[in-house]
Amino acid sequence: MHYDDVVLGRRSIRGFKPEPVPKAVLKEIITLAMRAPSSLNTQPWNFYVVAGEPLDRIRAGNTERNLAGVPDSREFRSHGAYEGAHRERQVEIAKQLFAAMGIAREDKAARTDWVLRGFRQFDAPVSVVVTYDRAILGGDIAPFDCGAVSNALVNAAWSRGLGCVINSQGIMQSPVVREHAGIPDDQVIMICIAMGYPDDAFPANAVVSRRKSVDEAVVFVGFEE
Ligand SMILES: Cc1cc2nc3c(=O)[nH]c(=O)nc-3n(C[C@H](O)[C@H](O)[C@H](O)COP(=O)(O)O)c2cc1C
Repeated sequence: MHYDDVVLGRRSIRGFKPEPVPKAVLKEIITLAMRAPSSLNTQPWNFYVVAGEPLDRIRAGNTERNLAGVPDSREFRSHGAYEGAHRERQVEIAKQLFAAMGIAREDKAARTDWVLRGFRQFDAPVSVVVTYDRAILGGDIAPFDCGAVSNALVNAAWSRGLGCVINSQGIMQSPVVREHAGIPDDQVIMICIAMGYPDDAFPANAVVSRRKSVDEAVVFVGFEE
């Protein structure tokens, strides 16, 4: 696939076929992803690629604890609620997803079902938990590098016919993820990426999210015109 086809075609996938993803394909995708740049080539990332029963235990534990009201224990700082343009974009993508799924605003049961799907990482056959070395906890660069490798990973997956959704909903309860994925204490859990073969019949998979324009995002400095 051409670069443009991958980048313009990729979108988050939230409905998957149940078929497993071969280990060889996952290794190939992660090999490509790890060509991502990192600060001073430190490559702080590691990947816990989880499937089968351990992943089902993560889904169950995450769901159970969230429903029981256990506070979120994700291992990154959060700024709290979005406002202004950020809030508008958050609402816009939610509206697009709910419209595609036929979920009405007042349909509490369907909305709850959607949230529960998120807690289960959309029942993907694979979850790639991205971690980094605790020795460099505290700076902003390791999370930045993890972002770079995660973007490379979802694009590499797309180029091989696989779909992903980067998600923090599936790892809200970090002790559950640590226990069932066997993540040692010297690793910080950054994010997870649900992955599998896209179910083309799942309506939300067709949603194409909007981007702000280049003119909104870019300030050119020192150009003639
Ligand atoms: C750090 C991060 C966390 C995310 N968490 C979630 C999540 O918990 N649930 C979800 O459905 N999507 C999640 N997403 C996916 C975004 O909603 C999605 O990337 C965005 O709306 C743009 O859509 P696209 O990926 O289809 O281009 C997350 C994405 C990122 C980068």
